[in-house]
Amino acid sequence: MKILNFGSLNLDNVYHVDHFVRAGETLSSDAMHIYCGGKGLNQSIALARSGAKVFHAGAIGLEDGNILKEALKRNGVNIDHLLQLKDKKTGHAIIQIDKSGQNCILLFPGANHCITREHIDKTLENFSKGDLLILQNEINNIDYIINQAHEKGMQIVLNPSPMNEKILALPLEYVDYFILNEVEMADISEDDNEEKGLQSLKEKYPNASVVLTLGSRGVRFENGSLSLSRGIFKVDAVDTTAAGDTFTGYFFGAISQGEHVSQALKIASMASAIAVSRQGAEPSIPYMEEVAERLNP
Ligand code: RIB
Repeated sequence: MKILNFGSLNLDNVYHVDHFVRAGETLSSDAMHIYCGGKGLNQSIALARSGAKVFHAGAIGLEDGNILKEALKRNGVNIDHLLQLKDKKTGHAIIQIDKSGQNCILLFPGANHCITREHIDKTLENFSKGDLLILQNEINNIDYIINQAHEKGMQIVLNPSPMNEKILALPLEYVDYFILNEVEMADISEDDNEEKGLQSLKEKYPNASVVLTLGSRGVRFENGSLSLSRGIFKVDAVDTTAAGDTFTGYFFGAISQGEHVSQALKIASMASAIAVSRQGAEPSIPYMEEVAERLNP
């Protein structure tokens, strides 16, 4: 089984602040860093660091995207389907991190929103039935990708993040795995009660598995035959950026390497706990050796 992640790549401009900027306020930050990020890139790097072989498809600018391309290459991610576009800016994010490690993120999509049908068709020619496709919501043409991948018989993973109305217009009946948080589930299921929301998702999409991440309350996994939950590994939160992406990458990395769902949840929970305890997106994602060491000291 091959893994294709068709997703975003961003330059993350990260500002450490006392509190998030309020309307009309001018605030000075305590520190500033530029990191490699984007939900797509973070998830590909987490997959690779978990030991999985992953192909990343997406788009960056010709002039300013090399640092992201090099980060993927350094981590062993295949970039045959990553395009560098002339006269387009690489996507970027403005991220504020407050004293408690929480973030708020402003996105400029740039090249992430220049994904063409031709790029999608050429990429998908290299994948077939049973291969795993991972998607988030930071690139354009996701509906077309899902339809084409479904025709090929690929397994489709959707992380509907960031959540917006575009997600609700997608052919969600073709999704095999939803990996999402409570807010995203409430929007898709149209019910903000956790139990009812899960039930409604299961009824609407009976063939899909649901991985519901609950922040400090842990994670639940539900499908027709399996119902599991587990808590978090407690750490001091320094920066929550990319914690969810690390979870997604490690969970599907473990599944693709033959782990049982319960073990995959455990591995992914430890990987994301480590990510929360460090600064930045890509730099905070641990390697499998460290995750294994922390699970079996
Ligand atoms: O999930 C974290 C990511 O969201 C950041 O790296 C940022 O680029 C945004 O895409």
